Amino acid sequence: MTQASVSRTPEERYRLGMDLVEQLGSGKSVPTTFELFDLEWEVLPGTYAPHRGTGTEWYTTAIPYPEGGRFLEIGSGAGVTAIWAALRGGCASVTATDITDTAVGSTARNAELHGVGDRVRTLRSDVFAELDADDRFDMVFWNCSVFEAPAEFEFTRDVEWAIFDRGYQALGRYLSQAHDRLLPGGRALVTFNTLGDIDRVTRVAAESGVRLNLLDSSARNLKGHDVTYKLFEILPVQAD
Ligand SMILES: C[S@@+](CC[C@H](N)C(=O)[O-])C[C@H]1O[C@@H](n2cnc3c(N)ncnc32)[C@H](O)[C@@H]1O
Repeated sequence: MTQASVSRTPEERYRLGMDLVEQLGSGKSVPTTFELFDLEWEVLPGTYAPHRGTGTEWYTTAIPYPEGGRFLEIGSGAGVTAIWAALRGGCASVTATDITDTAVGSTARNAELHGVGDRVRTLRSDVFAELDADDRFDMVFWNCSVFEAPAEFEFTRDVEWAIFDRGYQALGRYLSQAHDRLLPGGRALVTFNTLGDIDRVTRVAAESGVRLNLLDSSARNLKGHDVTYKLFEILPVQAD
C-alpha cells in the first residue's frame, strides 16, 4: 500500500500538516530564493516556498488558462501560478490575492522580477472579500490549503495559512461564491490532494451547492509522502 492510499485519522493529518509547515516555510527573517521552472523566485520571510514536488509545480502547468482572458488566483503565495498565467499562460490580465501580506508582497516582487508587473495586480483579500463587487474573470483558481484545522486553531505564522483551513470554512466560501465571479463562459477551478480529507471536502462542496469534476491528476512525492494532486472544475450541482 502506498502512502497515497493510507487512511489517516484527523490527528495524524494535523501532525502531518504541522510537519509540512516546518518544511515548506521560508526563512524567518530575510527574503529567500528558490528555483522552479528554471526561473528564480523570491519569497518574503514566512511565505510558502513551492519547491519541486509541491502541487504548485504540477498545477501551474496543468491549468487550461484562458488565452487572452482574465485570470484570478486566490491564495497566490509566492506568485508562481499567477505569474506563469501572464508569462506563459497567455492571460491578458491576472489578479492575485492572498490573505497574508507577505504572500501579496512576494507575488508583487516576483511579478516585477519576471517582467509582468504591468499585467499582474496583487491584492490582500480573504477569498473574494476585497474584490470590487463587479469584478469578473474568465477563470478563477485556488490551490487551496488542504489540511483541516480545528475551529479553535490560532494562526501564528503566515505559512500556516498555506497548509491549514479552519473547518474548511474558507474553502466553503470559495466554492459557494466562485461562480458569481465568472464572466459568461468562465470556469472555476480548485485543487485538492490525497493528504487532505477528500470525503469532508466532497461534503463541503455539496453544502456549497456545487460538485467537483476531476479534470486531471498526478501522483508525486512530497517530502517523503506519496501524494496525488488533483485539479477539479467546480460545477453547479444541477449541471450535467
Ligand atoms: C497551498 S497554498 C498555495 C500557494 C500558491 N498558490 C502556490 O501554489 O504555491 C494556499 C494559499 O492560500 C492562502 N490562503 C489561505 N487562506 C486564505 C483565504 N481565506 N483567503 C485568501 N488566501 C488564503 C495562503 O496564504 C496560501 O498562500
